[in-house]
Amino acid sequence: MTLADLRTQADELDRNDSLAHLRDRFCIPRHTDGADVAYLCGNSLGLAPTAARECVEQELVAWEQLGVEGHFKHERPWVSFHELFAKHLAEIVGAKPYEVVAMNTLTVNLHLMLTSFYRPTHERFKVLVGHAAFPSDRYALASQIELRGHNPEEAILTAKPLAASRVLRTEDVVALIEQHASELALVLMDGVNYYTGERIDIAAITEAAHRHGIVAGFDLAHAAGNVPLALHDWNADFAVWCHYKYLNGGPGCVAGCFVHERHGFAREPRARMAGWWGHDKHSRFKMGPDFEPIPGAEGWQLSNPPLFSLAALLPSLELFAEAGMDRLRAKSEALTGFLELAIRGLFPEWGEVITPAEPARRGCQLSIRVTRDAKRAFVALVANGVICDWREPDVIRLAPVPLYNRFADIVRCVEVLSCAK
Ligand SMILES: Cc1ncc(COP(=O)(O)O)c(C=O)c1O
Repeated sequence: MTLADLRTQADELDRNDSLAHLRDRFCIPRHTDGADVAYLCGNSLGLAPTAARECVEQELVAWEQLGVEGHFKHERPWVSFHELFAKHLAEIVGAKPYEVVAMNTLTVNLHLMLTSFYRPTHERFKVLVGHAAFPSDRYALASQIELRGHNPEEAILTAKPLAASRVLRTEDVVALIEQHASELALVLMDGVNYYTGERIDIAAITEAAHRHGIVAGFDLAHAAGNVPLALHDWNADFAVWCHYKYLNGGPGCVAGCFVHERHGFAREPRARMAGWWGHDKHSRFKMGPDFEPIPGAEGWQLSNPPLFSLAALLPSLELFAEAGMDRLRAKSEALTGFLELAIRGLFPEWGEVITPAEPARRGCQLSIRVTRDAKRAFVALVANGVICDWREPDVIRLAPVPLYNRFADIVRCVEVLSCAK
């Protein structure tokens, strides 16, 4: 394969891409040469939809013109604004609308879920986590374990890849669940791992955990909006995710949370951290002293939500609804496959792609452990308008996302690499 072949293929793929028009609905940053950057970093911070500014401005104007009356008299009243998101989020994570809610931020939601779902006993207090769990999740978990009087070093079991492999196979996680079933209270895994890009089988892990009465919860920061999900049917107990990566809600955007209906609608509501926005909507403003949770995920809300952050998120969710997850996933597999083909074909000695090769076991990110001049290659990419990221000690992450990336972006990435070598 040559670079010229790759360019020809990319031109054709871009010409035949039925989602190509969606790129115009995003603001693509410009490189110093005036051309669009090749933005391969949607796994870190998604780009701004062109409609986001207007959507936020509408709320600013409402605030200016209505003041407090915006809560009830605005055409999209703020008191119920977050409800606009349930249908979209339910589609994206495969849930019923009442099983999802947009609230807080990811780590806060993880704490809220651990408070309700990590119920250690003397015998069963351990938590199984994946090998490259995001540090914030480990900090949250360790602090929750300590708060319940256990020792995190003893209580956290880490599922590691078997010697020859860099990725964690679902069957190995299931084997660990079987092995430690009598001491596990919770399994907490990433849907897609932030470092390796590996995707785990949520249904299989949940099923194995439930066979032994263990709760199964998931961090979907890198899965939501990236891979198809069916949390309700897979029976997950809870999940949390952020909206600033694949869901393009902007930096620090309000996050998402899923609670399966069997918990959200249980006759005996789960213990939780409570706040007035989770209180029954009909009596919330009676300001009574006793907390009565809204059935479903909304019952875990604490505060009235950050309106401008929600407003910035809405246009992206509408784009997801317009494109449909099936079409996005098909393009995502094609883009990632093309990137892998280009890297393996043109730079076989550059490094090792540590993300699994099977499309079903990954999303749109490829993590490459670069064996030669890793930092130099990364610096060259960014200096030449290929925006990607670096994870210590030697991993470059490239993520072509189907909403706004073109096959031509991958060619640009490869062109820079071929000059940097
Ligand atoms: C997998 C994963 N979990 C948790 C977090 C923490 O998110 P937040 O800072 O929004 O709480 C991140 C942030 O990038 C992440 O990638």
